[in-house]
Amino acid sequence: MPKAYIENIANFVDQEVTLQGWLYNKRSSGKIQFLLVRDGSGMIQCVVSRADVSSDAWQAGEALTQESSLEVSGRVRADKRAPGGYELTATDLKVVQIAEEYPITPKEHGVDFLMNNRHLWLRSRRQHAALRVRAEIIHALQEFYDSNGFVRVDTPILTPAACEGTTTLFETDYFGEPAYLSQSGQLYNEATMMAFGRVYCYGPTFRAEKSKTRRHLMEFWMIEPEIAYADLDECMRWEEESVAYVVRRVLQTRAAELEVLERDTSRLQKVAVPFPRISYDEALEILKKAGEEIPWGEDFGGGHETIISEDFEKPVFIHGYPTKAKAFYMQPDPQRPEVTLSVDLIAPEGYGEIIGGGQRIHDLNLLEQRLEEYNLPREPYEWYLDLRRYGSVPHSGYGQGIERTVAWICGLEHVRETIPFPRLLYRMYP
Ligand code: 4AD
Ligand code: MG
Repeated sequence: MPKAYIENIANFVDQEVTLQGWLYNKRSSGKIQFLLVRDGSGMIQCVVSRADVSSDAWQAGEALTQESSLEVSGRVRADKRAPGGYELTATDLKVVQIAEEYPITPKEHGVDFLMNNRHLWLRSRRQHAALRVRAEIIHALQEFYDSNGFVRVDTPILTPAACEGTTTLFETDYFGEPAYLSQSGQLYNEATMMAFGRVYCYGPTFRAEKSKTRRHLMEFWMIEPEIAYADLDECMRWEEESVAYVVRRVLQTRAAELEVLERDTSRLQKVAVPFPRISYDEALEILKKAGEEIPWGEDFGGGHETIISEDFEKPVFIHGYPTKAKAFYMQPDPQRPEVTLSVDLIAPEGYGEIIGGGQRIHDLNLLEQRLEEYNLPREPYEWYLDLRRYGSVPHSGYGQGIERTVAWICGLEHVRETIPFPRLLYRMYP
């Protein structure tokens, strides 16, 4: 009997198959058991009727508790009324393990309880759907860059120097020397870019941010492209093309998951290039009109980004941040040296900044000056300065946070549900 997965069940109509999975839910009428079985790829109702199976199989069905593991064989039937359109008429049933009383029941649970049981919570419908969408987003992003001439070249996690400011470094001991968990692969990307032209890295990044917001994790994943000879305009074009590609892909292939998540997809349908572009100064104007005045030179907080995003249907670029609001490596605008050729992409509907990047300083003297102004030690950056000594070129790049992207596309309130095991300010368990 062929082993089948529920996601491919349509290929087996009127055939007999075996499914291996877990019991999600069960109803019984004395003569018939309705078992809702999940196998990781999907969910299907299996109908076990006492008259049609052995008494062992019937008793196995009786014994099943929520999340018990099982093997069920039967004939696949197309049925419009069945959830998902198919049903299995069982011919045999075997218990693999009878689960102990499962802590997560269909009733409401508090967030803290669910987070403590994250290792089990992942099996629930909404969590499962969100992580399927996450996998699709990662896949689509990699596919986008792979098919557009980018080479994936990964960067180290243990590093001797900061990329995004010294206040959020996780320090660890490297045989007596301090080492830091990577905040971003960018600096190494700039080296590999000089070898390969267009590169990207994908991996976990770490920030010891004392922020307890719905958008902050201590450990998050980033995809970071870096492009030789690209100016700020080209940088923004790669950003919008990739984001529009990913949204289109998820709408095509993960419609069922978006439905489980009750995502209003009409908002996502509008995400097509080009995305609107406004300057930092124009963003300040929007905030002012909304009664939120902030002094020129300061970076925006999550609340400000939400207000700005409400003026736009699509993701919006904010470019030209003041030098002092951004990292040391940002190229100054030749027309206005007090601002940088930096850009953030702000997601619609209040999901905040999903991409940060811009054009990098390519001049050796200016970069040396900036290291000093930002009080950064010279030695750990010597190799980085080398990149400006040997064939330096104007270049740009950016980093896209996976979890914030997933939160936006899935319509999830908090990033904790966008990653299998979130590391939060006061939580490292499980
Ligand atoms: O804007 P950030 O700090 O930019 C960089 O790290 C650049 N060096 C990237 C580059 O140019 N290669 O971070 C980039 C993105 C943000 O837009 C956000 O989506 C995400 O990373 N991010 C976080 N996501 C979750 N939790 C946090 N604490 C995050 N910090 C940044
Ligand atoms: Mg940023």
